[in-house]
Amino acid sequence: MNDQLYRLVYISRNEITGDDETVHCEIEKILSVSRKNNAIANISGALLFNAGCFAQVLEGLHDDLQNSFERIQCDSRHSNVIVLAFEKMAERRFPSWSMAYFGADSDASAKFGDIMQQSELDASLLKGNQIFDVLNEHLLDAEPSSV
Ligand SMILES: Cc1cc2nc3c(=O)[nH]c(=O)nc-3n(C[C@H](O)[C@H](O)[C@H](O)COP(=O)(O)O)c2cc1C
Repeated sequence: MNDQLYRLVYISRNEITGDDETVHCEIEKILSVSRKNNAIANISGALLFNAGCFAQVLEGLHDDLQNSFERIQCDSRHSNVIVLAFEKMAERRFPSWSMAYFGADSDASAKFGDIMQQSELDASLLKGNQIFDVLNEHLLDAEPSSV
């Protein structure tokens, strides 16, 4: 059995439409199911939302990540899912977070917006560690996980 830890970082385009309340409500649903499923699969991570885009870091064992990501990729609430990194790592950065969340008002989200603008939305210019670094830096500001 492969007990090596991996980190997956992706970005995607938000497809949730409607007013702020509707979007907020849909993201709450995503967080709730993520926290439940990820706790069971021993996956940790963080989700960033900035009106037009999501970015997510997921940490766990190879097969657990793959199973989860196959589901996430098919979700119609986002599109254009682009994997920026899928790499081995020595230890988890978000061990106590089944899914930390940084909403549109957060500093992390503002930085994410800057990074996206600098890359002129060209994903080939984006690096997984840029996203990871923003989340890492702002971890203490994250909304508490309910699990
Ligand atoms: C941006 C985004 C991030 C998501 N992240 C996760 C996640 O980390 N874990 C998870 O189980 N589902 C996540 N989901 C939800 C999945 O796509 C899917 O709806 C869910 O896993 C289905 O769970 P269920 O089979 O228990 O109903 C995410 C969805 C979106 C749009």
